[in-house]
Amino acid sequence: MLLFKKINDLQNHLDRQRADGKTIGFAPTMGALHAGHISLVDKCNAENDLSVVSIFVNPTQFNEASDLDKYPRTEESDILKLTQAKCAVLFMPDINEVYPKSTENTETFDFGGLVKVMEGAQRPGHFEGVVQVVKRLLEIVRPTRLYMGQKDYQQFAIIQEMLRQMQSKIQIVRCPIVREPDGLAMSSRNVRLPADHRKRAVLLSQILEKAEKQAKQKTPAEIETEALKRMENEPDFRPEYFKIVDARTLQPVADFTGENGVAACVACWVGEVRLIDNKVFD
Ligand code: PAJ
Repeated sequence: MLLFKKINDLQNHLDRQRADGKTIGFAPTMGALHAGHISLVDKCNAENDLSVVSIFVNPTQFNEASDLDKYPRTEESDILKLTQAKCAVLFMPDINEVYPKSTENTETFDFGGLVKVMEGAQRPGHFEGVVQVVKRLLEIVRPTRLYMGQKDYQQFAIIQEMLRQMQSKIQIVRCPIVREPDGLAMSSRNVRLPADHRKRAVLLSQILEKAEKQAKQKTPAEIETEALKRMENEPDFRPEYFKIVDARTLQPVADFTGENGVAACVACWVGEVRLIDNKVFD
């Protein structure tokens, strides 16, 4: 695996690959890599001549400074995992490479309702920061395909919409959620869960499973109320939202008849750790 820290060096290498007609798959990450991230690399490798992963903990998408400080940094083991996964290129830039002038955001996309709900409502400025960094990284890497996880369902929808508005030729590929054996969605934050919380955090995925089963008999509103109650009744759990939304527009639905299908999305604090998960209903 080649490791680049400077844009110039990375681009020189990728330009040569492109000149040879090679396709480039790109997976942006913030490091602290787990099997979920590695599944993106596997898909990159399967569908492209060359895989590029970036590791950059983007300060502009953290709405709380303490969350940025607490973000796990595991550079050595990340490099090992990527090497084992046969990642071709790792891009690990400094903040000055990504934001040479300032971190001020001058992007002006109109995402309408997509950014107003769920994570967008709970974490002001978060998606502006995500859009800013992903756009910048795409300008640097210029991949054929972009690989992002369904784990961050709303993030995926917003980046997909950004590419549409930019009339970009980059194809975005949604990768399924990789879960722990008990069902908990893999996340860099899971390591911060103490043993008891870790054990009970599986409730989130169980609630999503149950919600899908209930869709035949109950309304979205009834399912949401019940799901919220289950989390509220669990010691140390503080739900922020449980929403059943149109799978494309992410707006609330009154029933299950819409042609886009629906997704259930949840955000819940388990002790000190904020977890998110989702399920697209079949
Ligand atoms: P990060 O949280 O590191 O996630 C990087 C990518 O891995 C995202 O596309 C995310 O959806 C995916 N991912 C995380 N957990 C996963 C799981 N359990 N299964 C499958 N995929 C999973 O998301 C970000 O970083 C940042 O916002 C970023 C896009 C890099 C911009 O800074």
